Amino acid sequence: MEIILAENHGFCYGVKRAVEMANEAANGAGKSYTLGPIIHNPQVVGRLESKGVKPIDEVSDIDSGTMIIRSHGVGPAIYEEAENKGLNIVDATCPHVKKAQQDAKSVIEDGMTLVILGEKNHPEVKSINLWANNEGIIIEDEKSAQKLQIVEKMGVVVQTTFSQFKFTSIIEILEKKSKNLKIFKTICNATQERQNSAVELARNVDLMIVVGGKNSGNTNRLAEVCRDVGCTTYHIETSTELQLEWFNRVQTVGVTAGASTPDWIIKEVIETMKDFEALLAAVGQEEFKKGN
Ligand code: F3S
Repeated sequence: MEIILAENHGFCYGVKRAVEMANEAANGAGKSYTLGPIIHNPQVVGRLESKGVKPIDEVSDIDSGTMIIRSHGVGPAIYEEAENKGLNIVDATCPHVKKAQQDAKSVIEDGMTLVILGEKNHPEVKSINLWANNEGIIIEDEKSAQKLQIVEKMGVVVQTTFSQFKFTSIIEILEKKSKNLKIFKTICNATQERQNSAVELARNVDLMIVVGGKNSGNTNRLAEVCRDVGCTTYHIETSTELQLEWFNRVQTVGVTAGASTPDWIIKEVIETMKDFEALLAAVGQEEFKKGN
């Protein structure tokens, strides 16, 4: 059985940076907290918790210590609240998200209508809008773009993980909604690169294993694109979910992982599959002997 790892997989730059910053905070003096789970991966959150870094829901949950802002970012009021409380802030907002927040702010300051392309309820989109006094109009799809009024000046900012395909088709609609359209293409390539590599691999293997949090949007999407090309695909969080029978008579297995899946979980998955391979080979030999 050949095990092939997707060319682009696992931690993206922003998530790697955030986890490293949280680990540094864990080793520092005083108590550390993350505002919300640092990433959508329960195993990483659990490891950090065992080192004393606890997730909190609100700034009001703590009175002292270090508060880590996760890669999705937060609005300006949170920084203010934490500063007023004298908390030590570790800002792990991904620089790509930070850029989108600043672009949104500049659109409003320049007196333009702000349109944000993204998922209404995603924390990153919420944080981008908060930097623009919550004045942005959030557009999720072509249908809602069609409904927009024609305006004098429009600035467009995009959720970093937004689909390139959807972006292009929505921009075509927005071009008819304003004569002065300024586009800030704040899409980050990490998600698309992982999806492209996964599809390429899924087309050439018998089975795909997608590793990552069940609550991780980008991991779920990876599993979806693999299934879309007709490849049998299992989405697992850890190696303990792997089942021997999935690999029976399988020649090639592709492995990929979401942007919030750490290397150590991927390694464990590959090691377990290698153990399965040895087991299946041994069983195969026995069957062979019996047959003779
Ligand atoms: Fe940042 Fe892109 Fe990752 S925006 S958090 S590097 S997916």
